[in-house]
Amino acid sequence: MNSAISDPLTSDRRQKIIHLNTALCRIFDIRYPIFLAGMAGGPGTVSLTAAVSNAGGLGTLGAAYMEPKAIRTAIRDIRKLTNAPFGVNVFVARTPDDNSRTPEVQQELNAMRAKLGIPQVVAEDVKTPDHFEQQIAVLLEEKVPVISTAFGVLPPHMTEQAKAAGIRIVTMVTTVDEAILAEQAGCDAIVAQGSEAGGHRGTFDITHRPMGSNIGTMALVPQIVAHVQVPVIAAGGIMDGRGLVAALVLGAQGVQMGTRFLTSIESGAHIAYQHKLLASTEESTVITNVFSGRPARGISNEFITMWDQNGVEPLPFPTQNTATRDIRNAAAKEHNSDYMSLWAGQGLRLLTAGQSAGHIIQETIDQAQTILTQIKSS
Ligand SMILES: Cc1cc2nc3c(=O)[nH]c(=O)nc-3n(C[C@H](O)[C@H](O)[C@H](O)COP(=O)(O)O)c2cc1C
Repeated sequence: MNSAISDPLTSDRRQKIIHLNTALCRIFDIRYPIFLAGMAGGPGTVSLTAAVSNAGGLGTLGAAYMEPKAIRTAIRDIRKLTNAPFGVNVFVARTPDDNSRTPEVQQELNAMRAKLGIPQVVAEDVKTPDHFEQQIAVLLEEKVPVISTAFGVLPPHMTEQAKAAGIRIVTMVTTVDEAILAEQAGCDAIVAQGSEAGGHRGTFDITHRPMGSNIGTMALVPQIVAHVQVPVIAAGGIMDGRGLVAALVLGAQGVQMGTRFLTSIESGAHIAYQHKLLASTEESTVITNVFSGRPARGISNEFITMWDQNGVEPLPFPTQNTATRDIRNAAAKEHNSDYMSLWAGQGLRLLTAGQSAGHIIQETIDQAQTILTQIKSS
């Protein structure tokens, strides 16, 4: 038997595999191996991004739904708040709108509109603007330190341009095959997203897997580590220093955390959403495609229950996302979490209220360091 496998904590190996200043930190020029997940749609604010970067992690702006002009402004605002590196996250899925079943879907959505007292929508086509080219153009022009992607890899010409501009690229994946594709496409690090993760599943192609690939973080990370050379960042259910150390032991060089920051002081998550998060448990979330047409993990609520009872297939992404937007916005206005998308991972009982993002980072690092010291002296 391979002795490194049978006795992984011999002192030599301990020194080699478990420390917080990983190669990832050097590649991304950060103090601590913690990435803030880009969280599109409100939670991931400029101030949250800058706070994580200032605390030594890599803050990431969730820009997927932002117009190019707004992204440029946000990047400049981040730069006013920090000199440290940060990332901007976008979606690379570019499927055109599919309105083949829009009348049927709008009929179901109208039942929810009626409950919220907002105008019914007749069967007109849904139109989603495609900002992708311009979003990337802004990121290149502004020379952001890091571009991170979900749902796939950047097209080759964009990867080349990013590399020429000295921009690092991070791709989120949910399987070993996707990780290999991401490495071949030239990314500098891979986020291995386990099924515990909040928000959208990063699965590249959901044609034959409408609910995405859902491998747990514990199983996914070491298998991806074994198949790629670039650093792997573990994501999904990681909420504190214990999760960070566990990820490092599995061979990851860092973690990406989303849910943990949703109730931080700098979070842009709606207050009703934050209340729901703090009142929820590991049993509260489901993976659903009813809000956007792509699978995502969030707290179960009336929107999901009502839709699941109707037996109607949601429209593909991004059409379903655009079609449900008026409902989600009206619910947010009314502070009604029954009809909002409440993206969240499975680590919900580990959430804390009233902490700054910097405090969360420091607490996570202190806890990880304490655990590592205990391991070393045992
Ligand atoms: C509210 C929320 C929004 C998210 N939005 C995005 C996004 O826009 N882009 C992205 O790549 N990942 C997004 N994610 C997924 C994260 O990248 C990451 O995989 C996840 O947060 C890790 O699991 P955790 O939430 O248990 O920490 C989102 C996650 C949450 C919780």
